[in-house]
Amino acid sequence: MTAALRAELERVSYGDRAVLRDVVLEIGQGEIVGVTGPVGSGKTTLALACAGLLGHAVPARIEGKIHHTSLALPVAGYVFDDPLAQLTGLGGTVEEEVAVGPENLAIPRDAIRARVDRALAAADAVHLAQRLPDELSGGERQRVALACALALEAPLLVLDEPTAQLDPDATERFGASLRALAANGTSVLLASQDVDLLRALAARVLVLEDGATKAFGRPGDVLVTPAHTSASVEPGARGEPLFEAREVVVSYSDRTVLDGLTLDVPLGSATAILGENGAGKTTLARAIMGLVPARGGSISVSGRPLDGLPVHARARHVGLVFQDPSRQLFARTVLEEVAFGPRVLGASRHQAHDRAREALASVELGDLEGVHPGDLAPQTQRLVAIAAAMAARPSVLILDEPTAGQDEGGKRRIAAAIARQRAHGCAMVITHDLDFARRVCDRAVTLRNGRAASRVLSSAGNR
Ligand SMILES: Nc1ncnc2c1ncn2[C@@H]1O[C@H](COP(=O)(O)OP(=O)(O)OP(=O)(O)O)[C@@H](O)[C@H]1O
Ligand SMILES: [Mg+2]
Repeated sequence: MTAALRAELERVSYGDRAVLRDVVLEIGQGEIVGVTGPVGSGKTTLALACAGLLGHAVPARIEGKIHHTSLALPVAGYVFDDPLAQLTGLGGTVEEEVAVGPENLAIPRDAIRARVDRALAAADAVHLAQRLPDELSGGERQRVALACALALEAPLLVLDEPTAQLDPDATERFGASLRALAANGTSVLLASQDVDLLRALAARVLVLEDGATKAFGRPGDVLVTPAHTSASVEPGARGEPLFEAREVVVSYSDRTVLDGLTLDVPLGSATAILGENGAGKTTLARAIMGLVPARGGSISVSGRPLDGLPVHARARHVGLVFQDPSRQLFARTVLEEVAFGPRVLGASRHQAHDRAREALASVELGDLEGVHPGDLAPQTQRLVAIAAAMAARPSVLILDEPTAGQDEGGKRRIAAAIARQRAHGCAMVITHDLDFARRVCDRAVTLRNGRAASRVLSSAGNR
């Protein structure tokens, strides 16, 4: 197989911090190579370097060589781990956004049209072509990010956690698309925490640890399925419904997303909220928090209706960790961030700091107190956001896709946080990660056609 990319990286550093050391990687033409490793092990840095973006779009110092065999430009299409980072905002509609890349390559108009159509089809996003990029769900946005990268039709495709927000069926279709691209000669670097995905797609996988190569070989030889310890749960007294939603209706202008949704979550429960991309899971979370108005129905916690209450009043009862937590963080230090909730709810500065420290310790982040939240990896930011929500001690904790991009250590901490929540309240865990749902949730519902149907999680609660 001819090599499409050869990287010999002696050292890659941001400022004086070395993040990769002695990593050698070769990708054959039409080969899919996986990269995995814990959060902070250097996957994104390696991906950026291979795409030729490091030292240009992203400041860093590279010592070593990166050789792309093809002379075609651009050398690579890239999918960022944060789909928001991908979108230029230059396109009014999704299809205009996807056209931005090819337009910058100065190719003829009808060729651009053809590329945009191919890219949307391969990314499973044809139905989104006329939508506004700002108004998409997380998984919809991730498909558009993929389409933007595909539209460049570069010889190398570099993907950083491209399925973190896709529903299970969409992940299957993504796999089929990627195989077809590779069969047509595109080389792929796929950075992912998803061991099953890498097993299904990659010919070889590079495992990183602390910026160095731990193993590089066939998936069967180098990947281990993480053994997870289940968090022990001492649920609060069961039975009483703590959270109740009745016939809730929510629309965005003419699009009705929740259409008579009814859902009960008892005290002591962790309920998984499942459903396809765009099914309305995030919308439900926003409606509970009062961030989008409900057109009908009622939502109550401990028998008290929240309807009509402003967000800050609901925050006494409900904590929400967004799908994209970087948008949620605003303080200058991690400690202030986590102490903010208790402060707003009336705790003294001293009490708030105590609660914040306790919450940080519970997700094992005690040593980050003084760090600026903006300097943390997205997965760590999410843990900070979870601690911040928990410090306010809400009866209902809602986590929107908490495990996206997390490694096993992160999942374990989130599982422990959910177990702690169940001891005094209840949790709703919006997720596409069925293994995680089985591990931490005792019940599950699937959103479809704007309603919730209960669903059996096989071996629920005892995995
Ligand atoms: N601000 C908005 N304006 C208009 N439509 C929106 C807006 N936000 C979301 N939508 C649309 O509402 C529907 C439900 O979106 P929502 O974000 O609730 O889905 P989701 O179930 O969380 O999906 P995902 O799994 O992709 O995160 C989708 O069709 C989405 O495109
Ligand atoms: Mg969502």
